[in-house]
Amino acid sequence: MKKTNFLRFDSMVIHAGQSPEQWQGATLPPIYQTASHCHGTAENLSDTFSGKTTDHIYMRLSNPTNKALEVKLAALENGRGAIFMSSGMAAISNACMALLRAGDEFVCGNSLFMSTYLLFKNVFGKYDITPRMVESTDLAALEAAINEKTRFVYLETIGNPKMDVPNLRKAAEIAHRYGLPLLVDNTLATPYLCRPIDLGADLVIHSTTKYLSGHGDATGGVVIDGGNFDWQQGRFPDMQPFIDRKGPLAYLDKIWREHHINFGTTAAPLHAYLTMVGLDTLALRMERHMANAMRVAEFLRYRSEVSWVNFAGLADHHGNRTAREQFGEKGFGGLLAFGLKDQETCFRFINNLQMIYHLANLGDCKSLVIHPYSSQYVSFPEETKADLAITPDLVRLSVGIEAVEDIIADLTHALDGLH
Ligand SMILES: Cc1ncc(COP(=O)(O)O)c(C=O)c1O
Repeated sequence: MKKTNFLRFDSMVIHAGQSPEQWQGATLPPIYQTASHCHGTAENLSDTFSGKTTDHIYMRLSNPTNKALEVKLAALENGRGAIFMSSGMAAISNACMALLRAGDEFVCGNSLFMSTYLLFKNVFGKYDITPRMVESTDLAALEAAINEKTRFVYLETIGNPKMDVPNLRKAAEIAHRYGLPLLVDNTLATPYLCRPIDLGADLVIHSTTKYLSGHGDATGGVVIDGGNFDWQQGRFPDMQPFIDRKGPLAYLDKIWREHHINFGTTAAPLHAYLTMVGLDTLALRMERHMANAMRVAEFLRYRSEVSWVNFAGLADHHGNRTAREQFGEKGFGGLLAFGLKDQETCFRFINNLQMIYHLANLGDCKSLVIHPYSSQYVSFPEETKADLAITPDLVRLSVGIEAVEDIIADLTHALDGLH
């Protein structure tokens, strides 16, 4: 494998983790579609089970195609290692479970993705684990929520669909002051826009289903470990056996050994392969997603039917300054939310669209629209929807990479049709 860490991101995303010499000269890894791997001798299989060799055993434990993607994703986030899993939620649940025991607490932003919110509030709640949810941009509230039971701090780089932008550098400083790791769901920003580990975060999670694969053809998730957090500071005595085994990769070893292989959250190698193919064009796609989103946000804000636009790229947005500091001049992501008169108007608008797809996903190269209040969040209590900024007038738009003129023409047609 060649060294790629000296390359610019746009080149690294193509070349990192490439091992044609191990793939018979192929430029992508083969799809190892096998449930299990043969071992020449009884001694070899025994050595592999006891960790003396890194050969593959059984697909639920590891797979060479998935491994190739893990090497690439770790490099892109400036991490030391990664585990690819069946979905973003598999990555989030395993990443958190590996740090939690009954009675523990953790601090997180309150603008969480829907299933993350349900996992934290409802599922973890059953095991006597308490998420302390705070406004993700309120650093004082974040610090005040930390106590002796806290095991980590958890944030999303850009809230979905609240579009708030927490200050990751300052959040990491606070977490570290209390001996806690900072976990960041970086799905909406991608490493093209933001590398949380470079800002001080310790662990990064993605739903690779979104921008990283980019074509809406493969679910996946990943946990990436920066390998810098000192687990021996006092709050994590249960990490010691894993430190003894794997040193700076203790956390990934704990996830893998205790949770990933026992919960069976393995990803199919076809999904790893499709994600590798998608990643080749990540930089180009993100450039276009973000340029298009900026143009669409500017267009929407001057339409009389649109009561508000929520996009960190707009100069008067509450997250604009932090976004500029954290993301540089590249852009502000490809997702935005905007308000129409009411739910009925949102429905009519969506039904008027001709090109933009109406579905529950984001980060696809195609533009996608949804009315979250009546779909993903339909069964949530009203006060929770209000906390998560899910209002009846909200339309969420994942701006794709089509010609921006066509996106704007479709939006124009759908808005004109409201009269
Ligand atoms: C920010 C964020 N994190 C995690 C997830 C969950 O990912 P998956 O659907 O791959 O489980 C999503 C899905 O929309 C998301 O938007």
